[in-house]
Amino acid sequence: MKSEAEAGCEVMQNKFHTVRGYQLLEQNKKILTSAMEDYLEMIYRYSLTEGYVRINTISELLNVQASSATKMVQKLSELGMVDYKKYGIISLTETGSEIGKFLLQRHQIIESFLRLLGVTDSLLIETELMEHTISVDTLNRLHDLTKLIEKYPCLKEEYNKLLHQ
Ligand code: FE2
Repeated sequence: MKSEAEAGCEVMQNKFHTVRGYQLLEQNKKILTSAMEDYLEMIYRYSLTEGYVRINTISELLNVQASSATKMVQKLSELGMVDYKKYGIISLTETGSEIGKFLLQRHQIIESFLRLLGVTDSLLIETELMEHTISVDTLNRLHDLTKLIEKYPCLKEEYNKLLHQ
């Protein structure tokens, strides 16, 4: 049976699993804009349940005109990130899916960390801003720290006391 300290070390070593997605994003970082990242993340998020997403749905989710969404999706299709043919239906290619998975995880790690800090009102806005600039190294550190604090509720309680002083 492992001691608490050893179990804690395991948490620290548990990096997230989308290394491939990150490598692909790095390879494409000169051509993928922040807006394209937002599209890929949203298409991935939505495709998890349906396997595909429609242009109209994406434009509603990202709060953009259908014509802008169509243009962006066509660019992503030229870059080999999505398959987009008829009927306004979009599905991710293998590369697009790997990158989308990393982008969604990146979003979730930052959001969880900010939530842990007690950020509420600007949670989504700040997550959206931070995700495009954070390095993968810092992201891993945020992930480890969040998991560590969540594992030891006493740390969270101490921090919350500071917040409400
Ligand atoms: Fe995001």
